Amino acid sequence: MADNTFLAGQGPWLERLGNLRNVVRQELVTRQLAVHLPRGPLRVLDVGTGQGTQALRLARLGHAVTAVEPDGRMRAAFERAAAELTDAQRDRVTLLATDLAGLASVTQPTAYDVVMCHGVLMYLPESRSAVAALARRVAPGGIVSVVARNGDAMAWRPAARHDWPAALAALDETRRAAEQGRSARYRNEIGVDARADTRASLTADCEAAGLEVAAWYGIRVASDDVPVEQPAPDGEDLAALLDVEERLGSTDPYRALGTLVHVVARRGG
Ligand SMILES: C[S@@+](CC[C@H](N)C(=O)[O-])C[C@H]1O[C@@H](n2cnc3c(N)ncnc32)[C@H](O)[C@@H]1O
Repeated sequence: MADNTFLAGQGPWLERLGNLRNVVRQELVTRQLAVHLPRGPLRVLDVGTGQGTQALRLARLGHAVTAVEPDGRMRAAFERAAAELTDAQRDRVTLLATDLAGLASVTQPTAYDVVMCHGVLMYLPESRSAVAALARRVAPGGIVSVVARNGDAMAWRPAARHDWPAALAALDETRRAAEQGRSARYRNEIGVDARADTRASLTADCEAAGLEVAAWYGIRVASDDVPVEQPAPDGEDLAALLDVEERLGSTDPYRALGTLVHVVARRGG
């Protein structure tokens, strides 16, 4: 298995799963994906499943889920969450200890209706070969769902926080990356040095892999400036926040400012 650069931020990530930022992220991914799910029951592959939020939501809906996760602590978090499933739901979930590079060892089934890879590409050196590997696992008519850091909007969070030096640094890095023909780099909120994609680069990666982009969305357009430890609100406040983020994330010009970009691509039938 290749080095997993996410490990440096694993502790903060696991401690903050219930906070506003992650709650918004997970709920937006769920809503945006739901629109594109083929008719079920589905065979789902989730690569870099982590604690398994999306994989287990789909298992609850009755789909068969193969979840791939290289790290033991993340697999333990997945297993704890999976313990909440009914026996019938749990029987349809397979958790595999491998990484993206080890996907070839995933043999049953060989093709999936839905292939997900959320919040993983930023920890890999590049996305082109990763998207190609995901595309090889999707069945004709199936979809690939990718969530990555949005390199087009790197300065938006520091600017919204009125952290002007950080915003200028992000703008400079974005410009340098474009001039040098490389991905922009950044240090994320869990302290890991990571890599951003863009909607254009992901679209090109999908097309190179024989996929057609069906839709793209922004995630966390208006609520990304809150402190990482801020808890999610509850009740009507949370419902309203999620509804606004959902609308912003699918509407121009706002969606281009999402901290994360969510691309849903389809393999022709
Ligand atoms: C930020 S977490 C995202 C978890 C989950 N997909 C989500 O969106 O909530 C990133 C996950 O990717 C995993 N990961 C890192 N490198 C990977 C690789 N090369 N292949 C597969 N998973 C990887 C990490 O172990 C971690 O569990």
